[in-house]
Amino acid sequence: MRRPMAWYPWVLFVAATVGSPSRRSAVDLDATPRTTVAYHELSGARRFSDHALNYTTLLLEDERGILYVGARGAIFALNSSNIADGSQRKIQWEVSPEKQADCLQKGRNNKTECFNHVRLLQRLNSTHLYACGTHAFHPLCAPIDADRFMLPALLEEGKEKCPYDPARGYTGLIVDGGLYTATRYEFRSLPDIRRNLHQRPLKTEESPVHWLNDAEFVASVLVRESVHSPVGDDDKIYYFFMERAGEERTSFDKSQVARVASVARVCKSDLGGKSILQRKWTSFLKARLACYIPAYEVLQAVHSLDGGSWPSTLFYAAFTLSAQWRSMEASAVCQYNMSALQRAFAGPYMQYQDSSRKWTRYEGAVPNPRPGSCITDRARQGGYHSSQDLPNGVLDFIKLHPLMAEEVKPARGQPLLVKRNVLYTALAVDRVAALDGRQYDVLFLGTGAGWLHRAVVIGSGVHIIEELQVFEAPQPVERLVVSRAQRSVYVGAASGVVQLPLSSCARYGSCYDCILARDPNCAWDGRRCREVAGAADRAQLAQDVEHGKEGCWKGSAPAPPVQRSRTVLRGDDVLLPCEQRSNLARAAWLVNGTEGLAAGRGHFREGEDGLLLTDALPEHSGEYRCLGVENGLRSPLAAYALRVLPAPPTDPPPPRTARRAAPDMATVYLSVIALLGGLCLLLGALLLRASCQQRHKGHYELGAPAVELQTVSANCLGAARPPEEAAARGAEDGCLQIIPGEAPTATSPARELPLVPPPPPPPLPAEFTNGIAALPHMLRKMNGNSYMLLRQQEEPSPSPLCTTSFAEELSKILEKRKHTQLVDKLDESSV
Ligand SMILES: *[C@@H]1O[C@H](CO)[C@@H](O)[C@H](O)[C@H]1NC(C)=O
Ligand SMILES: *[C@@H]1O[C@H](CO)[C@@H](O)[C@H](O)[C@H]1NC(C)=O
Ligand SMILES: *[C@@H]1O[C@H](CO)[C@@H](O)[C@H](O)[C@H]1NC(C)=O
Ligand SMILES: *[C@@H]1O[C@H](CO)[C@@H](O)[C@H](O)[C@H]1NC(C)=O
Ligand SMILES: *[C@@H]1O[C@H](CO)[C@@H](O)[C@H](O)[C@H]1NC(C)=O
Repeated sequence: MRRPMAWYPWVLFVAATVGSPSRRSAVDLDATPRTTVAYHELSGARRFSDHALNYTTLLLEDERGILYVGARGAIFALNSSNIADGSQRKIQWEVSPEKQADCLQKGRNNKTECFNHVRLLQRLNSTHLYACGTHAFHPLCAPIDADRFMLPALLEEGKEKCPYDPARGYTGLIVDGGLYTATRYEFRSLPDIRRNLHQRPLKTEESPVHWLNDAEFVASVLVRESVHSPVGDDDKIYYFFMERAGEERTSFDKSQVARVASVARVCKSDLGGKSILQRKWTSFLKARLACYIPAYEVLQAVHSLDGGSWPSTLFYAAFTLSAQWRSMEASAVCQYNMSALQRAFAGPYMQYQDSSRKWTRYEGAVPNPRPGSCITDRARQGGYHSSQDLPNGVLDFIKLHPLMAEEVKPARGQPLLVKRNVLYTALAVDRVAALDGRQYDVLFLGTGAGWLHRAVVIGSGVHIIEELQVFEAPQPVERLVVSRAQRSVYVGAASGVVQLPLSSCARYGSCYDCILARDPNCAWDGRRCREVAGAADRAQLAQDVEHGKEGCWKGSAPAPPVQRSRTVLRGDDVLLPCEQRSNLARAAWLVNGTEGLAAGRGHFREGEDGLLLTDALPEHSGEYRCLGVENGLRSPLAAYALRVLPAPPTDPPPPRTARRAAPDMATVYLSVIALLGGLCLLLGALLLRASCQQRHKGHYELGAPAVELQTVSANCLGAARPPEEAAARGAEDGCLQIIPGEAPTATSPARELPLVPPPPPPPLPAEFTNGIAALPHMLRKMNGNSYMLLRQQEEPSPSPLCTTSFAEELSKILEKRKHTQLVDKLDESSV
């Protein structure tokens, strides 16, 4: 019920704030994961966990084949080709009991805070790593010999490099021996970007204006801008964070103090000023980072992708839309290119107005060399060879103008994706060369509930190939790292690390499935869907990432499904199951070879998992075929031959006259029917047992209680059955009662043989339930969090239940099911 309601303000909001017709709406920007892979269906996952918790700091060294993992109280070195091969090495790095007691005494949370959370793991030099841990609010750091994999005897003080608080936003990089970290280091200190392990340690300025305002850091990225730089530029480190905005904003809500996503940068060769800005950055500049709804979005993760040279660097950022939009959970993904960042940092500055306590655009003269820029060839020609040579006018200007006036806008001015009902907490990107000669960026998006979305950027949008349930217990995905060498993605979270293959082509069983997946890693080779990487016969492979349509010729169409028989009585309800493999597919039903269920509109309900025929009439008999229709491709999924037999009259006619009318025939029929009935009962019971055993395989229940199908037949005979027959059916009674051949119930005194000749005994179909046994256990899953299970009845129920209307029961079920789907699909499914 919640979603349609939540939809409304969203649409209004988009209409109100966007205005420009060229922008795509939130509906267009959303995407549904094409397939859903639940935890127990996930293949190829390798898991590592130890007694430790919080596997949140990952350092991949692809060339050495090692994945280092920093956890709570431990550092691990795992074999990156198989993290679960048991060859891990471990450094135990716990807090001493005295330190822990000390920490507890200070009133710290004894469940989370008084431990050593490893927050930094970086390569220091060819022989050593460098690690820092919070160490129960007393941070320590240490160089670690990577071969011996041991802590040194003497640890270094870490309070300038590592936060006290395990939950505080933090980012750290070692660049050419210098340690660049950003966080709020101490309990009450201001956030700061610092450089340590360097002859010239540097910090940000705090007076007269704070360069950082209550900042929470998310990520940092080194861009080697000195390489082939035409202007002799310097390498830069970019910082991504959230902070409090003080400036006048053109946003719709001026009353509140917004927290905004921002990007700052410093130059690697910065040495600080001589008398002004001594031991402070002279190259610090920051700009606002806009994605979808600035001031309502919270930056969660950033990943950069270097397309071969630094000018082609792309930044991908994941945001969650903040709590002001309480009625909905949503995330956005934006892409920024290097030139957008450069434009903002080369643009006008902001200045702080003491009188109004606001930041406004600075319109005055800008001194030379340009404040905040690195030392370039031009500066060197002017005689400024390092930041220490900069004139006082420039340094004074820098102190007061850290903020740029222009915000950094996403590529094409809008997000790639706005995903409702999901919170993205981590992001990694891989670039894949597809068969069409193009490069596609594949996004890995971790959710707050332990799922992973794998998506491909196509044009200005995103196609979500699949959603994978990586962790059984919901927990935020903290870190994602991609290894091209191992063709793996590593997922770090509280309970462990998981290694997953970059793609799972073998999961696609047909050419259509393979093409429709639009995974640039996968192609159809005529027999199976397989990895493109390393394939020698590329010309033989079919793939269509761009449109997800072309490449399957007639011969490669999936084999037609085996036709199954269904036989029911007039007035019964039948479900013809047809499970779609793809969340993007819809079912089309052909009846007697023609589309449309117009003939019996009132009787048919198309659900997500099948076709429901209520109150069947003999003229509904015929051939029913279900097709999966997706992106214009149609693939046959199921076929049924349905027979609806005329039902016996419900009012018992005078018994004896009927018997007398044809005594011989009656006995013949009676015996045939009794025999068939018995046989059917036996088979029914067997089937039932089999299905009841299967039932326990995939058991998903979340939120809404499981729906129970009490009975399938409206012609339930349970109450009227004589005791011996009821006994014969035993506990299974009431489960599945429509059994062909049983219809005229010869042994029942309450019912009589019809005067018309009874129907010829129906052929024994392969499955002769009316479909409920074959009902998929898992109904359509959406967004990785909505599940319902349709269960068969476990216990024999009192007979009155049998008479409740099945149509009612199923309408309720279908009603509920509708809410597990996206709103915009409602119309289709409720036809
Ligand atoms: C560490 O893991 C525990 C258990 O899941 C969790 O409650 C806690 O928030 C995590 N701490 C950090 C700093 O991630
Ligand atoms: C990792 O495992 C692979 C194969 O299992 C093995 O060849 C390799 O030597 C291992 N690497 C390390 C660093 O142990
Ligand atoms: C943490 O503190 C709570 C309440 O003070 C106490 O009940 C619990 O045993 C403590 N846990 C540990 C691991 O010390
Ligand atoms: C790497 O750094 C460590 C710690 O500072 C030092 O002991 C070691 O000699 C360095 N190794 C090299 C090859 O410079
Ligand atoms: C399908 O064809 C059969 C035989 O031609 C006919 O009896 C039946 O009514 C048709 N079914 C529907 C639903 O049109």
